Amino acid sequence: MHHFRYAGPNLHCESVDLAEVARLYGTPTYVYSAATMEDNFRRLQRGLTGLDVQICFAMKANSNLAVLRHFANLGAAFDLVSGGELRRVIAAGANAKASVFAGVGKTEAEIKLALENGIFAFHVESEPELARINHVAGTLGVKAPIAIRINPDVDAHTHAKITTGKSDNKFGIPLKYAGAAYEAAAKYPNLALKGLQMHIGSQLTEVGPFVEAVEKVVPFAAELKAKFGLVYFSIGGGIGIVYRDALASGQPAWWDAQPAGQRPLTPEAYGAALAPLLRGLGLKILLEPGRFMVGNAGVLLSRVEHLKRGAGKNFLIVDAAMNDLVRPAMYESYHEIVPLQRDTSRRALVADVVGPICESGDCFAKDRQLQEVGEGELLAFMSAGAYGYAMASRYNSRPMAAEVLVKGSAFELINARETFEQMIGGEKVPAFLK
Ligand code: LLP
Repeated sequence: MHHFRYAGPNLHCESVDLAEVARLYGTPTYVYSAATMEDNFRRLQRGLTGLDVQICFAMKANSNLAVLRHFANLGAAFDLVSGGELRRVIAAGANAKASVFAGVGKTEAEIKLALENGIFAFHVESEPELARINHVAGTLGVKAPIAIRINPDVDAHTHAKITTGKSDNKFGIPLKYAGAAYEAAAKYPNLALKGLQMHIGSQLTEVGPFVEAVEKVVPFAAELKAKFGLVYFSIGGGIGIVYRDALASGQPAWWDAQPAGQRPLTPEAYGAALAPLLRGLGLKILLEPGRFMVGNAGVLLSRVEHLKRGAGKNFLIVDAAMNDLVRPAMYESYHEIVPLQRDTSRRALVADVVGPICESGDCFAKDRQLQEVGEGELLAFMSAGAYGYAMASRYNSRPMAAEVLVKGSAFELINARETFEQMIGGEKVPAFLK
C-alpha cells in the first residue's frame, strides 16, 4: 500500500499535486511519501508483535538525511555499510547505538569510528575481519560487539546480482564452518559475542526462502545462545515490493483481487510465517529491511523531451537517465511509468522510454504501452524510492537530481539539485598542465 494516486486527472503524493512539485523544483526529481514510509515501518513492526524486535533500516536503499530522521523518529535504527553511512546517521541527528555495521571490507578507520560512536554490533563476514576488529578495539581499550554472518545456502529465487545466501556468494560464513568461527571469535580478548546474522537476498516475493533459512539457522542460534550468551539474531532484509502493478498496488482492493497463492509477500504474511519460528528462541530479533521500507514510497519525476517516431519503433526521450535511476540498465528491472496528468481520451502509445545518455543501455523500458504524451509533459517512474537516488551518478556530467519529501499537504526540498560548481568542486587542473 502507498499514498500515490490520481485525484481527478492529476497524480498526487498524499495531498500534493506532483505537477506542482515539478513546476517548483524542476525534473528529474525524486519525491518521497512520509506517510508511506511510516505505514511500511508500522506494518512490519506489527507483523512481528510479541517478539522483541528492532528494525534496522538498510540505509543503502535511501540515505537522505530527512529519510533517516523520519525513520529514527519512528523508532528505527540502521543497518549501515560504511563510515559515510555512519556519519549520515549522526548528521541526521539519529543515534548509532542501536545500529549495526555490515559489509565485507570495513577499514580500520571505519571500525574505529563505529566503536567511538557506540555501534550496537559489527556484522562480521570472515575470520580475517575478526582479527582486524579485535585489533582496533584493543588500540581503543574497548571490547567490540560482534555477530557473525551465516550463509545458510538457501536459494532466494531472485535476480542473480542481488542473491546473497547461496554458498557461491562472497557473503558470510557457511553454516558448517560457523561453529568454528564462533569458537575462534571467543578467543579474541577484545571481542564481545553478541549475536548471529543472516541475509539471503533482496526483492524476495515469497516467504518460502525466508522460512527455509530461519528454520535452518534457529537450532544453531539456540546452541550459540547457550554457549556464548548471544543476545540477538538478525534475520536480514530482503522483503520484495510490487514493481509491475506499482500504482494499483497502492490500494487495498488490488491486494484483495490477487488470486490466492499469487499475492506478493506482505509484512503481515512475513510476520505470520516467521514469528512462530523465532518466538521460542528468546533472542532479540533484528530486521534489516531496505527496499520494503522506501521502495514504494518514492517516485522519480521526469519530463518528456521528444517523441521520436522511428521506422516501426517509437522512442520517448525523457530528461531522466540511467545516471538518475540505474536499476533498469543494471538489473533489467521494471519500473511502471505513468503520466502526471491522466487523459483517458488519448490514444495509447507504444514506445521505448529512453534517457539522453550516449549509450543504448540508457533505456528505462522497451515497447512500453503508455498514454500518448508529448514534449514538455510529465511522467512518474514508480517504485523508485529504494536504490534510486542512492545509486545515482554524474555520468555524462549530469548533476545529481533533487529530492523532495511530502507529508500530508506539506512538501519540502530535502536535497537541492546539484549545481555545476558543486559537481566540479573537487577537481583542478595541475600546475604541470598549465
Ligand atoms: N542486509 C544486508 C546485509 C544487505 O546486504 C542488504 C542489501 C539488506 C539488508 C537490505 O536488503 P533489502 O531489504 O533492500 O532487499 N541495488 C539492488 C539491491 C541490492 C541489495 C544489497 N543488499 C537493487 O536495486 O535491487
